Amino acid sequence: ADDSLRFDGRVVLVTGAGSGLGREYALEFGKRGASVVVNDLGGDMKGGGKGSAAADKVVEEIKAMGGKAVANYDSVENGESVVKTALDAYGRIDVVINNAGILRDRSFPRISDDDWDIIQRVHLRGSFSVSRAAWPHMKKNNYGRFILTTSSSGLYGNFGQANYSAAKMGLVGMGNTMAIEGKKNNILTNTIAPMASSRMTKSVMPPPVFEALSPTYVVPLVVYLCHESCEENGGLFEVAGGWMSKLRLERTQGALVRTKDGPLPAESVRDSWEKICDFTDATYPVAGPENTMLLMQKLEELKAEGEQNSDNSEKGLTS
Ligand code: NAI
Repeated sequence: ADDSLRFDGRVVLVTGAGSGLGREYALEFGKRGASVVVNDLGGDMKGGGKGSAAADKVVEEIKAMGGKAVANYDSVENGESVVKTALDAYGRIDVVINNAGILRDRSFPRISDDDWDIIQRVHLRGSFSVSRAAWPHMKKNNYGRFILTTSSSGLYGNFGQANYSAAKMGLVGMGNTMAIEGKKNNILTNTIAPMASSRMTKSVMPPPVFEALSPTYVVPLVVYLCHESCEENGGLFEVAGGWMSKLRLERTQGALVRTKDGPLPAESVRDSWEKICDFTDATYPVAGPENTMLLMQKLEELKAEGEQNSDNSEKGLTS
């Protein structure tokens, strides 16, 4: 039996598909039977200019392989019009790969309001706008897959990229909640932090690294995450050069600095600092209610401790 991951009858929208990673995603989904919406504004790396040539070229490439594709030249800031191209051409939308992006690198104090805003608009608001427009159509079909594109610059920080880091970490947050809200309708969201050679990384990667990190090595993870057989949801992945891994948050056991009825001065925080920050026996926090329960448990410990203390003092008094 053919167990390859096919997308026949599926409509896949890739934003920023005119070059780099987006182009590779679009070509691969086209090969795998999907009808592909190739969105690209066709501007430069800093968000200047626009044009239809970049998207058109990729559409032609997909068609030349015998695939199905249509172009859209709108900015991802106009999510409704981007998604409308999918609906007009194919009547549905199944997969959205939020990939479009630009850079406005500046050291922190030199970031202008404009450098800040355009980065948030394209990466964060753009992914929101396109995904929100697609959501109701996915809900109707009880099937949807979203990919959000974050970056190691967001996860770990990177000199000169505070605006970009903020937008990229914003996507992680948005994805966490999209995963929770979409689950019951089989709308699954996962976030990737890729590294790949593209016009965006040409000037920052040493040539040997640039050559080793073909964007085609990122594509297979995205294809799998978007397939109907994949149930992964709310995941965060690093992917580069054929290596891929999953990330999660880690939390120390922490310290209950407060005593039952006592004060909580800053000096107690200072005195417990080592314990607060000690990752021995770290745990892996999860969403919502379970987190609140854990906190309540911690506070129960305090209550018990208080009772124990008063027991002791009573004993002390009576003996
Ligand atoms: P790229 O510059 O080759 O591709 C980005 C594409 O998005 C371009 O074709 C551009 O025209 C398009 N675009 C820009 N603004 C747009 C808008 N408003 N609406 C529609 N299209 C727009 O860059 P690359 O490297 O392929 O990046 C793809 C994504 O991966 C970006 O979100 C980037 O931040 C992210 N990323 C890339 C890394 C890498 O190592 N290449 C590292 C971490 C994240």
